[in-house]
Amino acid sequence: MSFQGKKALITGGSRGIGRGIALKLAAGGAQVAIHYYQNKEAAQATLEKVRALGSTGFLVQADVCRTQEVLRLFQQVRSEFGSLDIFVSNARPEASTFYQAPLEITLDKWDAAMDSQAKAFLVAVREAAPMMSNGGRIIAISFAPGGRFGSWQPWVAMGAAKAALEVLVRYFAVALARRGITVNTISPGWVEDSVFNSLPEAFQTGLREWQERGWTPMGRLGTPADIANAVALICSEEASWITGQLIDVDGGASLVDAHLPLEFQGIAKAKAAEAA
Ligand SMILES: NC(=O)c1ccc[n+]([C@@H]2O[C@H](COP(=O)([O-])OP(=O)(O)OC[C@H]3O[C@@H](n4cnc5c(N)ncnc54)[C@H](OP(=O)(O)O)[C@@H]3O)[C@@H](O)[C@H]2O)c1
Repeated sequence: MSFQGKKALITGGSRGIGRGIALKLAAGGAQVAIHYYQNKEAAQATLEKVRALGSTGFLVQADVCRTQEVLRLFQQVRSEFGSLDIFVSNARPEASTFYQAPLEITLDKWDAAMDSQAKAFLVAVREAAPMMSNGGRIIAISFAPGGRFGSWQPWVAMGAAKAALEVLVRYFAVALARRGITVNTISPGWVEDSVFNSLPEAFQTGLREWQERGWTPMGRLGTPADIANAVALICSEEASWITGQLIDVDGGASLVDAHLPLEFQGIAKAKAAEAA
């Protein structure tokens, strides 16, 4: 897939899923603005990889929870790139800044989630759109548990924030349609080489086994490359009639009905002893 001559900004492009997206677009020839918050070393390493792929780019630092910093981020992108073809809103603060159950959550934690997703996206799209010519691409990276369910209690703030992000995508899709700029949401399932790997070992093991058992029909976690491939498809010329959509990129996890045990649905992976 060629992105030759395109200029892309990926928030949180330094690590995890964002890095996968930056590398995929760079491999197709796009110049990439790699945004980070605190870990400049990781961002620099990603930029080196972008260069090794034969492309170019630069680093840009900002806290997406702060509107002034989002504005400064775009000021830098404007002065380095002049124009923009692809904007991917992917950054998400550390869980400690927003993770608390609904009956206890502080307003600071609530704000950290909402500001980093809904407000940052509102501000960012209004900065990005004037820099884009017809055919631009805007993609928001969401996460299903909050937007669609209600059981994961301490995720309430990020869940609400991701839901608001998804709503904004639809409104911006209409607002920018006449200019041929598409605005879509990609909602990944659990992904390796991301925040997942910083979770406690027991959580990682439990979650991996859970998905392999059948809660992800494809039987594995995703990779940053899986998500990056979906972003690349949406960024392609051929996707110009797709806008305002939420695309689950999750190996089928969003199709599985949580009302019934997997065994009743005929999709549970057989235990090793039974399989032998
Ligand atoms: N990982 C998954 O399984 C999964 C599943 C579904 C959806 N998602 C979504 O995918 C996106 C990326 O997730 P990930 O797990 O790949 O992330 P990650 O590996 O934890 O990386 C987070 C990125 O966001 C940046 N960041 C952190 N706090 C920030 C702040 N206050 N302001 C600006 N940037 C900040 C980090 O920069 P520094 O390192 O410099 O701080 C880093 O580049 C998120 O939107 C997440 O909700 C992830």
